[in-house]
This record gives sequence, C-alpha cells and structure tokens, in this order.
Amino acid sequence: MILAIANQKGGVGKTTTAINLAAALALRNKDTLLVDLDPQANSSMSFVDLREIEKSVYDVFVNNVPLADVIKSTALPHLSVAPARIALAKLEARMTGELDAPFRLKDQLRTVADRFQHIVIDCPPALGLLTVNALVAATHLLIPIQSSYFALEGTDDLLETIEKVRQRPNPELRILGVVITMHDRRTALGRDIRAQIKKVFGDKVFRTVISKSVRLEESPAYRESIFTFAPDSSGATEYYSLCEEVMDRA
Ligand SMILES: Nc1ncnc2c1ncn2[C@@H]1O[C@H](COP(=O)(O)OP(=O)(O)OP(=O)(O)O)[C@@H](O)[C@H]1O
Ligand SMILES: [Mg+2]
Repeated sequence: MILAIANQKGGVGKTTTAINLAAALALRNKDTLLVDLDPQANSSMSFVDLREIEKSVYDVFVNNVPLADVIKSTALPHLSVAPARIALAKLEARMTGELDAPFRLKDQLRTVADRFQHIVIDCPPALGLLTVNALVAATHLLIPIQSSYFALEGTDDLLETIEKVRQRPNPELRILGVVITMHDRRTALGRDIRAQIKKVFGDKVFRTVISKSVRLEESPAYRESIFTFAPDSSGATEYYSLCEEVMDRA
C-alpha cells in the first residue's frame, strides 16, 4: 500500500495522522516508510534529528539523488523516514517545464518498493506539484478532515484534483477513507459536523474518529509517536484502531 495523506487545507491533522499511522503500522511489524513532502518537515522532526540530515526528498526531486540515499532508520525498528527540508518549498519553481515532474516520486518509490510493505506520504497544505506527485505515486488516499464549522470547505477542489489524476496518470488511485480529526464528541456542533461529513462522504468515513487531545498535540514536541509518548491515551487507542481499519480496507 502506498498511502497519501492529503488535504490542501492547512492544520487539519495530516502530519499527526501520517506520523501515528506510520508508527502504528511499524508497531505491527510492517516495514514502513514515511515520506515527508511538507517543507515544514514536521513528520521528519518527529523521528529524526534534522541537523543530521544532509540529503532530503528535495534532492531526490531536483538533483536526481536516489531515494535510497536519503532514507533514514528511526528508533522504531520497522519504521524508516524520507525526510523533508525547507528547500522543498522552492521545488515548484525548479521543476516547472520538466515533463516528468509529476512522476518523479512514483519512479523513485519503485526503486525501494521491495524494502517496504507500506509507504505513507505526508502532503503539504496545497494542491501543487508535491501533492500531485503523491497522488500519482499512491495506491490509496486518506483524507483527514478537521471537525470544525468549515470542515468541508475546499473539499470540492480536492475531489476535482483527484478526478484529474485518475483520468490520466493514475486511474488506480482509490480513496481509502476520510478520517475526522480533532473531534469534540461532547458538543452538539461536533455531532452536527460529523453528520455533515457523513452526508458528503458516506461509508468512506472511517468509524474511528480522532478526538481533540492535548497528548496528541504535545507528542511531536517530544519527538515521539503517540504510542510511546502516551500509550494509554485516547489518541493512541484511536490511531491504533484507525490503523486496523486502514489495513482492513486496503
Ligand atoms: N487530535 C488532535 N487533538 C489536538 N490537537 C491536534 C490533533 N491533531 C493534530 N493536532 C494539532 O493541530 C495542529 C495541526 O495538526 P497537523 O500538523 O497534524 O496538521 P497538518 O494538516 O499536517 O497541518 P499543515 O497543513 O500545516 O501541514 C498541530 O499543532 C497538531 O499538534
Ligand atoms: Mg503537516
């Protein structure tokens, strides 16, 4: 499974989901690669020391460095990371006009595919070339939607991009599911938003809902996944159960 975690809306829980889903897969002894396509490098930071990174996914895209050369192992035995660096932000400008630009990630992932059972891609909050690379390379897409009043704003654009990618470069791309994040199940608004999301995405919405949780918010600062940082928290239980649903559906 090559799973892209995408939503062009910022701050909806893409990185938190990518980190903890990748960790959950690794904890189930699946060799997993987390590819960080976000110039802010938040998922990389959770598992590797950025000061030790010489080459990043940027060099893979722009300087033809083999992906295998940027992959780092982590403290979790079955988890590896392909880290990002701020230079990724300049990528679009460097790659415009190159005909194979949307296919670079796909081509590079092929070269390491036999080493990993699962690949999780954390996308930036935009529908630009990086996200398109992820959608072209992916077998499946997971869309995190934040439980908020404007939850569904912008999903039309995302669905349109997915359709375009399906028409040509990647007809196999499947929406694996939509996960509701930062949910507050105690409020009427929270329940209302969940119903709204279900109306639009139907049974694509995962049964598992990720609650708003201080532990989840804190864990990246301690450079840990929720499973080692707060193994008894609701966040750990929920991401573990999301992982089970993901594996059932894939
Ligand atoms: N379930 C949660 N409960 C509380 N806080 C959360 C939860 N999930 C994520 N957060 C926090 O919300 C913020 C945004 O989350 P995250 O970075 O995962 O979103 P993102 O979609 O990757 O953002 P960006 O679009 O900027 O890449 C972060 O500070 C994160 O720690
Ligand atoms: Mg992010």
